[in-house]
Amino acid sequence: MDFKHYLQVLKDNTPYDFSNYSDNSIKRRLQKVILDNGLTIDELLDKTQTDKGFVERLVEDITVNTTELFRDPEIWPQFYEKLYPALKGKKTFNIWHAGCSSGMEVYSNMIILNELGLLEQARIFATDISLGMVRQCTNGSYRYEFNKKQLSDFEDIIKKSPIQGISKIDFNKYFDFDLENDRINIKDFLKKKVEIRQHDLVQEKVPFYNKFDVIFCRNVLIYFNANLQSKIYQMFHNQLYPKGSMILGNHESLTGFYKTKFSKNGPLYTKTNVFHFKYQ
Ligand SMILES: C[S@@+](CC[C@H](N)C(=O)[O-])C[C@H]1O[C@@H](n2cnc3c(N)ncnc32)[C@H](O)[C@@H]1O
Repeated sequence: MDFKHYLQVLKDNTPYDFSNYSDNSIKRRLQKVILDNGLTIDELLDKTQTDKGFVERLVEDITVNTTELFRDPEIWPQFYEKLYPALKGKKTFNIWHAGCSSGMEVYSNMIILNELGLLEQARIFATDISLGMVRQCTNGSYRYEFNKKQLSDFEDIIKKSPIQGISKIDFNKYFDFDLENDRINIKDFLKKKVEIRQHDLVQEKVPFYNKFDVIFCRNVLIYFNANLQSKIYQMFHNQLYPKGSMILGNHESLTGFYKTKFSKNGPLYTKTNVFHFKYQ
């Protein structure tokens, strides 16, 4: 199958445009969808044009949804070394998790904010292109056995590198552990505080009216080509308050023109001062 042609059909018939994702990952995943569903090319094209449910599942299957509670545990003390002084004096502040997957990054961050006494003044927003991920983020229910190691890894890290003096967290405050059914369930007070929406970063429209103090977009842009990455950096730059920060994944970094619009501040990229020139 001509893979570019298929992405064009998808773009023309659905809200989704994957034409500026890096080719290899999308191609491999698309081939897997075709195999798993036992589809001929004609059936694939037909379902893409007529079956909304199929398209939503396809979006979930061709994007990479891997995430973890306290992913890259050693990085969180470094984030908060920079973020805590910037956020602690504010009456309110806004944080956007763009590409939130099933929500583990969102809830991990909220737990840290609560431990630091900053959760009340925080407004938390989370978005993902995939409806399935938005639902999982809303439910906040995860497998226990599969995820328990992330919690103990994070405990080990903060023992050695406390986050603003916090070296221990009582996870029972944040999770209901249902070991019989192999579940970790996020408590309601955290779930109620997040505004979760389906949103596609590729579309021009911005999902919220407000600006942000922090935008987390970790392990998402790595799947986009350089042109699309630049478009998203511009959008994040517009959506950040002056001195607001963007946080990328551990293996992602700003390159080219946008390096001049953000300054590297430890693991954060902070929006540099914007000067307005008046034309006479
Ligand atoms: C690898 S996960 C990263 C999750 C989390 N940020 C983390 O680092 O653990 C990437 C997420 O980005 C989402 N995604 C991919 N393309 C997107 C787009 N165009 N707009 C919004 N989200 C997108 C995927 O659905 C997936 O849930």
